[in-house]
Amino acid sequence: MLEGFNLKSWKFHEQRLLEGANWKLAFDAHMDFYHLPILHKETFGPTISNLAQYYFQGPHQRLGLMSENSVEQDSLQTLKSIPPNEWPLEPMLFGEWIIFPNVSLNCFKAGERIMVISQVLPGDTPESSITIQTFLTEKPTNDDTLPQVQELVEFIGKVVGEEDLAMSRKQQAALSSGLIPEVLFGRNEYGLQEYYRWLGGCLSAHDDQELNMLFKNGGHIS
Ligand SMILES: [Fe+2]
Repeated sequence: MLEGFNLKSWKFHEQRLLEGANWKLAFDAHMDFYHLPILHKETFGPTISNLAQYYFQGPHQRLGLMSENSVEQDSLQTLKSIPPNEWPLEPMLFGEWIIFPNVSLNCFKAGERIMVISQVLPGDTPESSITIQTFLTEKPTNDDTLPQVQELVEFIGKVVGEEDLAMSRKQQAALSSGLIPEVLFGRNEYGLQEYYRWLGGCLSAHDDQELNMLFKNGGHIS
């Protein structure tokens, strides 16, 4: 499915480094749309849907956003009224693509189609991480599209840097206090449940044979 992007023809635009809390906390936000209208009410707005549609391929996943607009999002709600052979490809490439265990691809449209590749890497301590944001454009920018592209780059940098990663630092502080014995992901956070099931499976594998069995058996060692 990722081949549909034809990434080899995309153009590099800009790369940024963002500091965050523990890498898993920093990456959690990429697999959750539940927080969108709350944490991002000043940026994405309070009316954005918080309903993710999850598509899984082994440990990898893609999040689509439930929406009434099939041109912007490939919501199953709207695609059901269109014959499958007429489904448009472009909206099907929208959403958040999670490449297990720490890479996210996210598409936006602002003048040009823009992709943000986020690589979340552990920092020097368990409490720190670095998110490498790489911005690509599908076509070279020109005088007309460059301002829109740059505006989106600044916007996404703000959303992730000042909202998502700032919140993950607060989560880190709360969890580090030891006052919360455990965290339970809800039914609207199914992607996170699956992600940690796979991560737990990988960490509990004793050797390559068990790892191979894990991937062969959909995340179960036995
Ligand atoms: Fe977010």
